[in-house]
Amino acid sequence: MLGAPSDSRGCFFVLPFPKCAGPPPGIRFAYAAMNRPYPRASSSLLVTGGAGYIGSHTLVELLAAGYRPIVLDNFSNSSSETLRRVEALAGKTLTAIEGDIGDGELLRGIFAEQARQGRPISGVIHFAGLKAVGESVEQPLRYYRNNVSGTLVLLAAMDAADVRHIVFSSSATVYRASAALPYTEDHTLGPANPYGRTKAMVEQILRDWSACDRGRRVACLRYFNPIGAHPSGRIGEAPQGVPNNLFPYITQVALGARPRLHIFGNDYPTPDGTGVRDYVHVVDLARAHVKAVEYLEQVTEGFTPINLGTGRGTSVLELVQMFERVTGVSIPREIQARRPGDIAEAYADPARATALLRWRATRTLEDMCADGWRWQSRNPKGYGP
Ligand code: NAD
Ligand code: UFG
Repeated sequence: MLGAPSDSRGCFFVLPFPKCAGPPPGIRFAYAAMNRPYPRASSSLLVTGGAGYIGSHTLVELLAAGYRPIVLDNFSNSSSETLRRVEALAGKTLTAIEGDIGDGELLRGIFAEQARQGRPISGVIHFAGLKAVGESVEQPLRYYRNNVSGTLVLLAAMDAADVRHIVFSSSATVYRASAALPYTEDHTLGPANPYGRTKAMVEQILRDWSACDRGRRVACLRYFNPIGAHPSGRIGEAPQGVPNNLFPYITQVALGARPRLHIFGNDYPTPDGTGVRDYVHVVDLARAHVKAVEYLEQVTEGFTPINLGTGRGTSVLELVQMFERVTGVSIPREIQARRPGDIAEAYADPARATALLRWRATRTLEDMCADGWRWQSRNPKGYGP
């Protein structure tokens, strides 16, 4: 049901529940624009947290692959502007619902409405979650409620609608810190903070959930360090406040928004003493989600954890120097004490992703720096005015 145009860019309000005089509680808007046919339009995918950094890049790839994503996001860490840009990039329609994964009634309504429209939701990509490690130490209950309880509500609604495929955003942070590198999926789990424990708990819940019904399938994607942005420069990472992570901090220093980068420790047992991580381009990561959706349509396995990384470690100094070389912008920096909780080195063994998903990261560190800087320099305030 289309209403009046909601803005000058041609988006339309869509009330996804036609019997309602207005949107049900929890839904403030949904919109669609530029209708074009979807090759895979007979079923839909629910994408929770789709307006976020990784979700938005994944929407572009899903739309390009012909899927019909339905976004559910409470915009607690994102903006609806992102979705407008995704639509413009993909040249396709997106249905978005503002609401929370903890709202079971809303979720049941979304599943029911899509089925009623003859496009039942066939699977879920579950990005929605809080992700700041430091904040999770200060507000653990908020993290357990949002990430763990929220996922339980989502799974209950999936059960009620008989939706049995889910791709879950997990993290390399679930692994126990160890010198045995690279991390394979069999590496011992042992997250070091409440955020990581929410991910490990949800993994356990999904393992148990999939074990009690033969049709249930879980692709549990353990991301290493996603950075960069869409090469168009239209979508990218837009952290609120001071960035916690290295790459957005570097780009904000490059902008002049922050005076210098603080390098947390140069006395690690690594080649140059700074921390080593496995940085992976967000577009590569996004494409892995499309592969994971396809994988779930074919496999018989219930729960499959899969690392998403390049398999290569890069130090803080190497990343900074690469950024300077690619962009021509110098990054003032100073060495500080180690950040509590950090480990020296972490990188993935991505062999399972290659074997099962036929996925491999193809974009280089140069691409990550060039694309990330294009986004940040053209959008110094992120999605803000
Ligand atoms: P993000 O914060 O940009 O995106 C998360 C989205 O979920 C946001 O749009 C937010 O508004 C939404 N959201 C949060 N709680 C919600 C709720 N209760 N109901 C509805 N929407 C909700 O984060 P991201 O970087 O895109 O990460 C996506 C997922 O990947 C998260 O689960 C995160 O924990 C995980 N992850 C991220 C990284 C990383 O470095 N970015 C690494 C490993 C894992
Ligand atoms: N670092 C700095 N200065 C900064 C920020 C980071 O020197 O201002 C260093 C860190 O000490 C570390 C490296 O840069 O050596 C990477 O740090 P990030 O914070 O960017 O990434 P982490 O590997 O610590 O953690 C991130 C997410 C986690 C996620 C993990 C694996 O914050 O939530 O990647 O995916 F679990």
